[in-house]
This record gives sequence, C-alpha cells and structure tokens, in this order.
Amino acid sequence: MIKILVTGSDGRFAKILKKINSKYKFIFRNKKQLNVLSTTSILNNFKRFKPKLVLHLAGLSRPMNVHEKNISKSINLNIIGTCNIVNQASKRKIKVIYLSTSYVYPGKKGGYTENDPLKPWNNYSWSKLGGECAVQMYKNSLIVRLCMTEKPFVHSKAFANVKSNFIFQEDAAKIILKILNKKGVINVGGISQSIYKFARKNNKKVKKIYSKGEFPLRTDMSLKKLKGLLKNAN
Ligand SMILES: NC(=O)c1ccc[n+]([C@@H]2O[C@H](COP(=O)([O-])OP(=O)(O)OC[C@H]3O[C@@H](n4cnc5c(N)ncnc54)[C@H](OP(=O)(O)O)[C@@H]3O)[C@@H](O)[C@H]2O)c1
Repeated sequence: MIKILVTGSDGRFAKILKKINSKYKFIFRNKKQLNVLSTTSILNNFKRFKPKLVLHLAGLSRPMNVHEKNISKSINLNIIGTCNIVNQASKRKIKVIYLSTSYVYPGKKGGYTENDPLKPWNNYSWSKLGGECAVQMYKNSLIVRLCMTEKPFVHSKAFANVKSNFIFQEDAAKIILKILNKKGVINVGGISQSIYKFARKNNKKVKKIYSKGEFPLRTDMSLKKLKGLLKNAN
C-alpha cells in the first residue's frame, strides 16, 4: 500500500479526507506531531514513516484578512513551511502534493488554464503562490489549484456576480485521490457558475449579494485538463 503522510491533519480538509476510503495508507500528522516550521520535526517524520508522498495541507487560510493583518504568520506558514517540506522531501525523493488556490489567477477574464499568467489578488493568494514556487521547482510534485468549501454552504449570503468553480471539500477530496499519481499543475473544481447559484443548490434560503470590487468577478478556471485525466483514469 502506498504511504502518504498528511501535514496539518487537524485541519478542515484533512478531517474530510479521514472519512473517505481509498487504496492509500494515510499517515495523519497534526501540528504537534509535525511542525512544518521545524526541519527536525519534518525529518523525524520522514525517517519514521518513510512515505512515498506527502500531502501538504498544513498552513494558514482563514480568516482571509489574517494574511493582511499578520504578514509574518502568513509568510511563515504558507511560504516558509511549504519550502521546508519541499526541501526535505526533495532530498528523500518523496513526492509533494500541494493544494493551491484558484485565487492565484488574476480573476478578470475567467476560464483560466494551468499555463495562464498568474496575478494573485490578495495576500492569501500571494502566500499560496509563494508556496507554489518551491513546489514548482521540484518536478516530483503535483499542484492542485482549487476553490472549495464546507457542506452545507456556510454563509447566508452569496455573490451573484462572482463566477468560480466552488466545490464541496468531500467532492474535491474524491477527485484529488484520483489524480495523486499525476504531476504538474491541475485545476480542480465544480462547474463554472456564480457562487450564489452554487450555494442555492444546497440552501434555498441563501441571499443574493453583489461584489463591487471587493472580490474578483471571474476566478473560474478551465477544467479541460482535469476532465481529460479523469476520462483516461476511468
Ligand atoms: N479551504 C479552502 O477553500 C482551500 C482552497 C484551496 C486550497 N486550500 C489549501 O488546502 C490546505 C488545507 O486547507 P484547510 O481548509 O484544511 O486548512 P486549515 O483548516 O486551516 O488546516 C490547516 C492546518 O494546519 C495546521 N498548522 C498550522 N501551523 C502549523 C505548523 N507550523 N505545522 C503543522 N501544521 C500547522 C493548522 O493547525 P491550527 O489551526 O491549530 O493552527 C490546521 O490544523 C491549505 O494549504 C489551504 O491553503 C484550501
């Protein structure tokens, strides 16, 4: 059985992953067991478990404005933490799987393909792109760009003029498990639609709101590459 070490295993996505059956043997490590800011801690885990892959989930995501208020925390956890993981994984030929975000794209025209130019729109996405840089340098890696959320939709209001590929975490997890053997960058998500339309399918009471520039209008991505890979995988 292929061993995958998971960092940040007390986080939201890891909690979902724990409930899914798969052909992989996951080794879940939380912040206490594996601190991505400590090279020794990373090395000890790699030596002890000898994973073939590391699914790097540890980091800082919400609330979004923490990345504007506390730049050091954001840089440390998302950029330096990821660099530490890649540094140690590359020395031991451990494949790195990194969850990036669709917010690394400029958010203007939508339909972004994996090779389109990047222009993060806030500090969170800059920090995720910072992490991506180290992962991009290591070719034994997979970068997944996505935009996911909890089921049911957590907010009472949703943008009707913002288009994205929002996907529920559990659906994203199932897709990611199918492409773990791939390398490079892959956009992952649900159909391109407004956040309101996505949210309404699950919660008829959700109210429409409109972004007046505080949120990029077109962060939707092309999923052509993903669809091709999934077709061949089935
Ligand atoms: N959620 C999304 O919509 C989304 C979309 C695209 C990509 N992603 C990425 O997917 C990954 C997982 O997301 P998530 O929603 O599960 O994030 P999350 O809930 O914030 O989980 C991150 C985990 O990392 C832990 N952590 C913090 N500092 C650490 C350290 N020094 N060493 C090891 N672990 C540490 C956190 O612990 P504490 O909470 O105790 O500090 C937390 O348990 C993140 O990299 C995120 O950027 C998420």
